[in-house]
Amino acid sequence: MEEAIEIRPLKRKELGDLYLIAKVYYPTEPWLSEQYLAGLEARAVTAYSLRWSGRLIGGIIITADKRPNHWIDFMVVDRNMVKRGMGERLFLMAERDLESGSMLWHATHDTKTFAPSKKFLIKMGMEQRGSLKGWFGRTDAVVYAKRIR
Ligand SMILES: CC(C)(COP(=O)(O)OP(=O)(O)OC[C@H]1O[C@@H](n2cnc3c(N)ncnc32)[C@H](O)[C@@H]1OP(=O)(O)O)[C@@H](O)C(=O)NCCC(=O)NCCS
Repeated sequence: MEEAIEIRPLKRKELGDLYLIAKVYYPTEPWLSEQYLAGLEARAVTAYSLRWSGRLIGGIIITADKRPNHWIDFMVVDRNMVKRGMGERLFLMAERDLESGSMLWHATHDTKTFAPSKKFLIKMGMEQRGSLKGWFGRTDAVVYAKRIR
């Protein structure tokens, strides 16, 4: 499987496919659109896509807030390809681009669908820092952070 995986800087033309992959996890979220992803991509500090045997199966977009804070604003792995280490590869690739000493933040939905995401973030060395009531409208957010070495 090793040689079939390619992680490359994200291209704007890949956003349509990434949107479709993400829509599976967020079927009723009004904010998610290809335009929304294009807005994030335009502000990205680092962003990658992941292909497996040529097929786009995931991506990550990290933006900068006031230094030294970064946000994982978007990250997804195709639901049919989860639990094979793809998310970890994407995360580690993007993390390498961040300034040492800066903080990396992520807010995830506090729902059953995103329970694997919480486990994923902990495995990536992030710590729960708090929660935000109503951050995503109808659902609350759990906020995670990691200091970049
Ligand atoms: C979160 C997400 C990116 C993980 O992608 P992935 O390719 O499955 O992640 P990996 O296979 O690299 O998993 C790494 C670790 O995360 C945890 N994990 C991932 N999926 C899990 C699941 N379904 N159940 C339990 N733990 C899980 C495990 O600790 C795993 O390590 P292990 O395989 O040694 O047990 C993917 O589930 C996803 O796209 N979710 C929806 C979108 C989202 O939440 N995005 C924001 C995430 S920051």
